[in-house]
Amino acid sequence: MDRLKGKVAVVTGAASGIGAGTARLFHAEGASVILADMQEGPGAALAKALGARAHFVRADVTSEADVAAAVDAAVAKFGALDIMINNAGIVGAVGSIANTPLDDWNRTISILLTGVFLGMKHAARVMIPNKRGAIVSVASTAGVLGGLGPHAYTAAKHGVVGLTKSVSSELSQYGIRVNAVAPGNTVSAMTAFVISGDGSDMETAAKRIAEGASLGIAAGPEDQAYAMLYLASDEARYVTGHTLVVDSGQTVSGGIPTFHNGPTSLIGAPKVG
Ligand code: NAI
Repeated sequence: MDRLKGKVAVVTGAASGIGAGTARLFHAEGASVILADMQEGPGAALAKALGARAHFVRADVTSEADVAAAVDAAVAKFGALDIMINNAGIVGAVGSIANTPLDDWNRTISILLTGVFLGMKHAARVMIPNKRGAIVSVASTAGVLGGLGPHAYTAAKHGVVGLTKSVSSELSQYGIRVNAVAPGNTVSAMTAFVISGDGSDMETAAKRIAEGASLGIAAGPEDQAYAMLYLASDEARYVTGHTLVVDSGQTVSGGIPTFHNGPTSLIGAPKVG
């Protein structure tokens, strides 16, 4: 349980879901963790429950001053910043492109993409002089394919994948790795709300997610946290610019693996057309 021993991490969106799971796992693996979130109650409670090596900072990722302060808190409290996890997110604007209000579009992009930009910018500010660091941002399967999420969400998450590639190409000269995780459906307040209209109904969310996953199980925050643990740890020292998709194979199979249940061979079958 020492894969991050002695490292210092900032996790945004750490009060709930994937961010909370990541903060817990990183802490258990020996890291000191700044939990940054807009939700003070659950965020501060989780930091308190983790105890030593955990500290909550109220931060809105759309505010440059807040993101800078969360990064500075890592340095002030724990002496450095080794790992930046850009995870905070919302579903944002939904519905037809023809009816998407500009304000909703802008708000969605500002949380999901500008928030990641600010996290990368301020992490780089303190990591470059130290010539080390790992930045991991949370994209989505909606950042890899179209049609898996609303328009603004899909555009922002594709942006996270692109920014990860772009920033990795700059920061590798300083020994800083920049990667992303692209979760598929994962049980959290966000998916519970989308599935049942009740952000606390994890049971219905887990059931529906398991039914839709080819592996027949529901991913929880820990499944995404383990992927981030690998990318954040020294085990991934040769990996940068990569987006690790954690989705029960949804994006590689189109979600329809039934072809393999057909004939055992089509070699020698009559030509079509
Ligand atoms: P969640 O709703 O459980 O947690 C999101 C957290 O982000 C909350 O604690 C919320 O307070 C925080 N947050 C929202 N806006 C913020 C802001 N402006 N500043 C600071 N904190 C803010 O949702 P979940 O599922 O854990 O989402 C985490 C990330 O994972 C998001 O980026 C989401 O897009 C991504 N994701 C989730 C998937 C899923 O199936 N749950 C699938 C693909 C991606």
